[in-house]
Amino acid sequence: MSVASNVVQSKSVLDLSGFSKVSLCHQPTPIEQMPRLSAELGGPSLFIKRDDCTGLATGGNKTRKLEFLVGEAIEQQADILVTQGAVQSNHVRQTAAAACKVGMKCHALLERRVPGQGEAYEETGNVFLDKIFGATIEFRPPGLDMNAEAEAVVARLKSEGHRPYFIPGGGSNPTGALGYVSCALEIAEQERSIGLTFDWLVMGTGSTGTQAGLVAGFEASGRKLPVMGISVRQPRERQVEAVHKLVNSTLENLGQSSIAASEIHVDDGYVGEGYGIPAPSTLEAISTTALYEGILLDPVYSAKGMAGLIGLVRHGFFKPTDNVLFLHTGGSAALFAYEDIIQTDQK
Ligand SMILES: Cc1ncc(COP(=O)(O)O)c(C=O)c1O
Repeated sequence: MSVASNVVQSKSVLDLSGFSKVSLCHQPTPIEQMPRLSAELGGPSLFIKRDDCTGLATGGNKTRKLEFLVGEAIEQQADILVTQGAVQSNHVRQTAAAACKVGMKCHALLERRVPGQGEAYEETGNVFLDKIFGATIEFRPPGLDMNAEAEAVVARLKSEGHRPYFIPGGGSNPTGALGYVSCALEIAEQERSIGLTFDWLVMGTGSTGTQAGLVAGFEASGRKLPVMGISVRQPRERQVEAVHKLVNSTLENLGQSSIAASEIHVDDGYVGEGYGIPAPSTLEAISTTALYEGILLDPVYSAKGMAGLIGLVRHGFFKPTDNVLFLHTGGSAALFAYEDIIQTDQK
């Protein structure tokens, strides 16, 4: 099958058919109830949207973004995807797999962003899977402008005769965010088919594309479901600013009006010591969700998101009658890189 024949067009109420898209993702992903976790917390009715089950290379949220990004790469006749992330990046793993699926190469820059990690951290988990997918990897020290580093690699590859397509960290730009515009439409459709209305959606937020795409999608479709992003890295003000900027550029891309920053909800109370460092609440979220619902979370993103959900329930943020949807963004491949910390916590 040729690369171009993989390209399909999306069909939805909000018309995304003008954007190139490639099919990479199992969708719709299921929405399940979490009755045992709800009862344990004595809280509202909790539900989970299983974007850990998007299918590509153990799944996760980047697959939806990559459908649009790789669609654009094919349109531009690229032959190599260039991207960047932290060492245990789920985004890099899914990009490497997507490249295989459409017959391209993948080159990734991995930032040594998380301090105090041993050698195994750079070999196991997502890095191990990146290599299975044949990605070529360069490591970088922490604190550089990683998108600028990747742009320099793009220039080098062009001068060598390649046709690189650059995907920013986390796939978070107005093209990648379309994956979560489409997910917002999917959730609104599932509400109709299940016969249920959600009051809040809660999720971990990092490079912003997932939250921004959802907010833009709910706004553009007229179903204004509020989205609470639990920051995994940045303080609240900076995360709100970054999400807001991408929401409005995504809305502009869709030909829609912009929204105010006051409509962006972020809680930064669950970051702990920093990106990629599990806090006690992160470890509690991993074990509670595993033991009560049989669901694996990752220590960098989805468990910080779930820690936020648990904390919000405990602090009485939701009404007892609310229906609250947690977006599982995947990432469990990174668990193996955190075995020591998690095992110590279980003893
Ligand atoms: C498992 C997982 N969850 C959540 C996120 C955050 O999504 P975003 O970067 O779109 O904010 C990421 C990003 O890398 C991720 O890998």
